[in-house]
Amino acid sequence: MAGYLVEDTRKVTTRRLIEMKQQGKKIAMLTAYDYTMGQIVDGAGVDVILVGDSASNVMAGNTTTLPITLDQMIYHATSVVHGVKRALVVCDMPFGSYQVNSAEGVTNAIRIMKESGCDALKLEGGVEIIETVKTILAAGIPIMGHLGLMPQSINKYGTYAVRAKEEDEAEKLLSDARALEEAGCFAIVLEKIPATLAAKVASELKIPVIGIGAGGDVDGQVLVVNDMLGMNKGFSPKFLRRYADLNAVMTDAIGQYVSDVKSRDFPNIEEQY
Ligand code: KIV
Repeated sequence: MAGYLVEDTRKVTTRRLIEMKQQGKKIAMLTAYDYTMGQIVDGAGVDVILVGDSASNVMAGNTTTLPITLDQMIYHATSVVHGVKRALVVCDMPFGSYQVNSAEGVTNAIRIMKESGCDALKLEGGVEIIETVKTILAAGIPIMGHLGLMPQSINKYGTYAVRAKEEDEAEKLLSDARALEEAGCFAIVLEKIPATLAAKVASELKIPVIGIGAGGDVDGQVLVVNDMLGMNKGFSPKFLRRYADLNAVMTDAIGQYVSDVKSRDFPNIEEQY
């Protein structure tokens, strides 16, 4: 089994991530939504764990990220934090919790930090939310930006297709990334954009750029853990590499259990008191 021995076992900080970029070391990031998965992902050496609002899809079965609430995100983040020793834990601010105004944004940001114990927050958007970003940063809360495909805006786009293929949208993305860096964000996620554009952003910015469906010339990668473990059968975008087929493994194991119970094989004499 390759790759899970981590040389540096110190707690990952936002500052360390910027140093990793300076040293040309790639950043590995994955999502997690509960204590057990947080423990496994952290123990395997992932640098950043995102408590993504993708929990709305993969945990709750919603078709978008929009319905998940602030309380539900705090519950997921608290559970993950309990399982993590080394990784930096970043929690998504859910849809509606920061778009109204800066005052409401910072109030909700403080609630997530206080109640979950996570290390940082992620917000979707560029110049449109820059005042809120600045207000939250001024409260001492580190922020990871998120540009490109922003699932909280799915009703505006009407599609999950690749973003910023046209020049005007690519230009806007570049200026949004510059604005987020200038405001003081410690990293930016770029989702589902052309690899050449992502590479340009990563080479221009001093803060780490983490890609999902944004090619290899960025400073790190993020995937949804349930997708890369093959737990979801139906989701197969081009950018997804499946590292396991846990859907088959779990279905086989549970099927065997059902059969053992029904055949009276389980429990046997050693499995009782
Ligand atoms: O919510 C999420 O899982 C995300 C990643 C796709 C970056 O935002």
